Amino acid sequence: MKLEFLGHSCFLISDDKRVLIDPFLTGNPSASKGKDELKDIDMVLVTHGHGDHLGDAIEIAKANNATFVAMYEITNYASGKGVEKVEPMNIGGTIEVDGILITMTNAVHSSDFEGGAAHAAGFVLHLKGHRVYHAGDTGVFYDMKLIGQLYKPDISILPIGSRFTMGIKEATKATELLGSEYIVPMHYGTYPAIAQDPKEFKRRVGERAKVLILNPGESFTF
Ligand code: NI
Ligand code: MN
Repeated sequence: MKLEFLGHSCFLISDDKRVLIDPFLTGNPSASKGKDELKDIDMVLVTHGHGDHLGDAIEIAKANNATFVAMYEITNYASGKGVEKVEPMNIGGTIEVDGILITMTNAVHSSDFEGGAAHAAGFVLHLKGHRVYHAGDTGVFYDMKLIGQLYKPDISILPIGSRFTMGIKEATKATELLGSEYIVPMHYGTYPAIAQDPKEFKRRVGERAKVLILNPGESFTF
């Protein structure tokens, strides 16, 4: 399984299928690719409606005939915009798309978009050899321990930018609660308002987990 960071909160997971999460590329100063460079995407997952997550998701889903997975209200909106394959879900639910189980988890965050409002979320992807938790935008919450116990993600992708999400201190606690072997920081450095030093995060986490710092355009193969 290959995990590629495209900047901000956007990741492309390539395994049997190609799964794109939170593709905010157009207008993102840290994006490593443009939306038209993404080919053969099987599914697009959106954690919540904010522009830095919904981003180019609708256009990419349409261009790739990909399945669009998000909170019910957001998939309704996407359908209205012409996305043909949608999989609505809500917190606590698990669905199967193209052989991959996807669980929607809580996120402690707000969320609105042009089409209305919907609760913010995260995802756990149950792949063949790995379970990946993408937390979305969230503060730390104690039920991350439940996510760790129920789904045992070996890779967790956590925001560390502070201001709109967890910062380094909270993400270090989240790392402890989740118990994942690997932690990948996201949602920092895109703008001065969320500037953080990922090396400081790595130092704080210490022996609790392996922190993989990816620059936009970099990937790691598990
Ligand atoms: Ni947000
Ligand atoms: Mn955000």
